[in-house]
Amino acid sequence: MKSDSQRVPQHVAIIMDGNGRWAQRRNEPRTAGHRAGVKSVRTVVEESVRLGVRVLTLFAFSSENWRRPPSEVRVLMELFINALRAEVGRLNAHGVRLRIIGERSDLPERLQQGIAAAEAATERNTNLLLQIAANYGGRWDIVQAARRLASAVQSGQLLPEAIDEARFAQALSFGDQPDPDLFIRTGGEQRLSNFLLWQSAYTELYFSDLMWPEFDAKAYGEAIADYGRRQRRFGLTGDQLSQRDPA
Ligand code: IPE
Ligand code: IPE
Ligand code: MG
Repeated sequence: MKSDSQRVPQHVAIIMDGNGRWAQRRNEPRTAGHRAGVKSVRTVVEESVRLGVRVLTLFAFSSENWRRPPSEVRVLMELFINALRAEVGRLNAHGVRLRIIGERSDLPERLQQGIAAAEAATERNTNLLLQIAANYGGRWDIVQAARRLASAVQSGQLLPEAIDEARFAQALSFGDQPDPDLFIRTGGEQRLSNFLLWQSAYTELYFSDLMWPEFDAKAYGEAIADYGRRQRRFGLTGDQLSQRDPA
């Protein structure tokens, strides 16, 4: 068995928070923080590939973020469109496949087109699956899964008795991927903000006081190392686990 410090999470999920405060502290507009945050995205993507993380899920825009001032929402959408276009080459160079999760139909048309193009351009890559959550909410995800299952029942393809936890999980946004092992939130707040509600049932939580634009390879490495020191018990006792996996 690998020693604890070598244990790398297979799936990391991150709430990239603190862009606005980072900028405001420097007397810059909040949107300058969003622009600066793109660099941290690049860093965690490249470090994830290097460390052997298989899935990285980043929260970029929540179902609730539409409530922000329209000018900020506009800049975020613009930034997203430009980043998709500008980063595809880099993603391909690192073997990263891109997938967007969330309710796409409410996103600007140009963004939906950019998403489809970037997903298609990277679909053969296998080093890392990068999932960007845009117009995503954990409750939205559970509701859309329920709706999908209900229509399968209605059309006679599924029996209600056949709906169990595994079947439900498959109907969620990334039912083909494992649940996140490690959740990181930057920016100092300690809450889930409607991120991966179902999928985080047994995820290890890690909170960093760094603002997202400050989150670098060292900070990411520390989070991964912290994860490596944890014992995940999934309801068992510590003794049961040490019998199963002698150190
Ligand atoms: C996270 O940073 C990015 C998005 C939510 C889009 P914030 O914009 O929430 O930054 P703070 O939390 O206000 O500092
Ligand atoms: C969560 O951050 C959403 C993203 C990082 C995209 P928020 O800044 O929107 O969360 P709250 O509002 O502080 O809970
Ligand atoms: Mg915030």
